[in-house]
Amino acid sequence: MRIALVTGGAGGLGLATARRFAADGMTVAVADLDGEAAGKAAAGLKGKGHIGLKLDVADQESVVATFDRVENEIGPIAVLAHFAGTLGSGGTATGITLIEADVDDWDRVMRVNARGTFLCVREMARRRRAKPVEHGRVVTVSSLAGQTGGLQSGTAYSASKAAVLGLTRTAARDLSSLGITVNVIAPGPIDTPMLAQATGQTNSGTKYTKLDAVPLGRVGEPEEIAAAAAYLASVEAGFVTGATIDVNGGLFMH
Ligand SMILES: NC(=O)c1ccc[n+]([C@@H]2O[C@H](COP(=O)([O-])OP(=O)(O)OC[C@H]3O[C@@H](n4cnc5c(N)ncnc54)[C@H](O)[C@@H]3O)[C@@H](O)[C@H]2O)c1
Repeated sequence: MRIALVTGGAGGLGLATARRFAADGMTVAVADLDGEAAGKAAAGLKGKGHIGLKLDVADQESVVATFDRVENEIGPIAVLAHFAGTLGSGGTATGITLIEADVDDWDRVMRVNARGTFLCVREMARRRRAKPVEHGRVVTVSSLAGQTGGLQSGTAYSASKAAVLGLTRTAARDLSSLGITVNVIAPGPIDTPMLAQATGQTNSGTKYTKLDAVPLGRVGEPEEIAAAAAYLASVEAGFVTGATIDVNGGLFMH
């Protein structure tokens, strides 16, 4: 039995990934700032033994407590899929430009996206050094905005997601000695509440304003990110580490 911790597991992409992992036979701990939604998400997963927890990824004590609970109640985590993230106030139709960017928003976004990723990946490393598992996997989540700059998501968000790229590569080198691969998914526009916020829509990301620039001519579905996460989490992906997997409809090719 492989045990997965999915942070941000109550959100659009985290939830789709938790569902996919459960369908693939993993036991899943769904962790989210919204603990109630995490509980509901876990209860709705296929199979047995899943749990939902409240977690603030930016809070060191909360991260340690989450790993404690999952490892005590279920067992050692083989897969960390770190989806928790925030857009901050960069969610406007045009994005917040550097000149308008607010320092408090910068701190809030960096705290969740950069520091939160660091704390969760570091905790995973510490646990696996103390108690190794076979085929350990870490999947982090950046963004097209971290690769190309803001688009519709603003200065702090882009910078925080660029930090995730560097952190992932460093972690991939460091954790190789523990047999753990570390890879990052860089989604383009995917139909979730966050995309709706970024584009100033109330619900569907299908109104993404830069659709003309997407070679595949549509926004992505959460299940398409979950499929990438499932591959990176799989035993078969054992020779892939430090990679950035673009799931963006061709919006950014490099
Ligand atoms: N949807 C997109 O188009 C898109 C594109 C690129 C990158 N991403 C990234 O994918 C990830 C998931 O995004 P989504 O679209 O599912 O967004 P979402 O807003 O639907 O979900 C994000 C989840 O993270 C949780 N969260 C926020 N702060 C947290 C914290 N401090 N601790 C724990 N949980 C916290 C939220 O409660 C929410 O459930 C994010 O990292 C996001 O930046 C999304």
